[in-house]
Amino acid sequence: MLKTTGKEYLEPTMTEDATNVPSSDNTKLIKDWSSVRDIRQETNTFGTRLLENKEDVWHHNAWDHVEWNEEQEIAAKQKVSLQSNNPMKLEDRQIFLKNPSEYWNTFYKHNENKFFKDRQWLKIEFPELHHTTNNESGNQKIFEIGCGAGNTMFPLLSVNKNPNLFIYACDFAENAVQVNNKEYDPKHCKAFVWDLTNKGIPIEYIEPNSLDIVVLIFVMSAICPNDWIQVVDNVYNMLKPGGLVLFRDYGKYDMVQLRFKEGRMLSDNFYVRGDGTRVYFFTSDEIEKIWGSKFSIEQNAVDRRLINMVTRKI
Ligand SMILES: C[S@@+](CC[C@H](N)C(=O)[O-])C[C@H]1O[C@@H](n2cnc3c(N)ncnc32)[C@H](O)[C@@H]1O
Repeated sequence: MLKTTGKEYLEPTMTEDATNVPSSDNTKLIKDWSSVRDIRQETNTFGTRLLENKEDVWHHNAWDHVEWNEEQEIAAKQKVSLQSNNPMKLEDRQIFLKNPSEYWNTFYKHNENKFFKDRQWLKIEFPELHHTTNNESGNQKIFEIGCGAGNTMFPLLSVNKNPNLFIYACDFAENAVQVNNKEYDPKHCKAFVWDLTNKGIPIEYIEPNSLDIVVLIFVMSAICPNDWIQVVDNVYNMLKPGGLVLFRDYGKYDMVQLRFKEGRMLSDNFYVRGDGTRVYFFTSDEIEKIWGSKFSIEQNAVDRRLINMVTRKI
């Protein structure tokens, strides 16, 4: 399930220097580097590819840092306004607003485990996650929601030294949730089908106020804005007080957004891909507003036009 071959999940290439955002909780690991500029590493691996010379543009399939100048900003705004002046036809919009899991199910049927990659940046951006795998970290309950191919759960299980770590993982697409990965160990994990927009939490698996960490990586963007309040409520009800949400998702004007043609926009910043799956592009203010009603925001950084956020249940 985790083995990835062929197509990579290409992440956006426009970059902004991610900041070293200190944590308000001094028991937590201090994040002193970012996926954009890894100050501990001199190699030219992903995370350190800065496009300094235009001629080198084809040297890598993705660059981490491209200057975002005024000209590009204007071009991006023009592109988005072209998209919004030519939205999807009203009668077609209903098709994609109904039964979104069907499109993801088809996606996983065709791609199985080939599409998404293990994320090297997980360890860098969310050191809290790897911390749970330490032998001395005690009882830790993590829930990866919208887990897809399990790109967070399985890498964590593969390095786990903590006998008291338990990871739940769910997706609303049945074909995504498979248990045939060699790392799938029922003593340490449970995968199931669940829709995060459901009214109420999956109590058959997860007790209220019981989780230490909820992981949402490129999931909220797939959800209709009308359902965001329910999402925040559900996550809140599952986390214990002091529990964390680790969130990463698309930011506004990401290259993925700018590549959309006319006729794909459902509503502002919300689009339908060619395969019927949906994607929203957030501003960090928006993210803060959505989560800030119930959580304290510990980090909210834009990095390569991706939004990284850590919030804590008060
Ligand atoms: C872009 S993929 C990201 C997958 C995975 N988190 C990762 O980073 O590799 C979005 C995932 O969210 C799932 N998803 C979308 N809406 C969902 C919902 N309402 N409830 C549960 N899963 C959902 C999709 O099926 C898909 O697997």
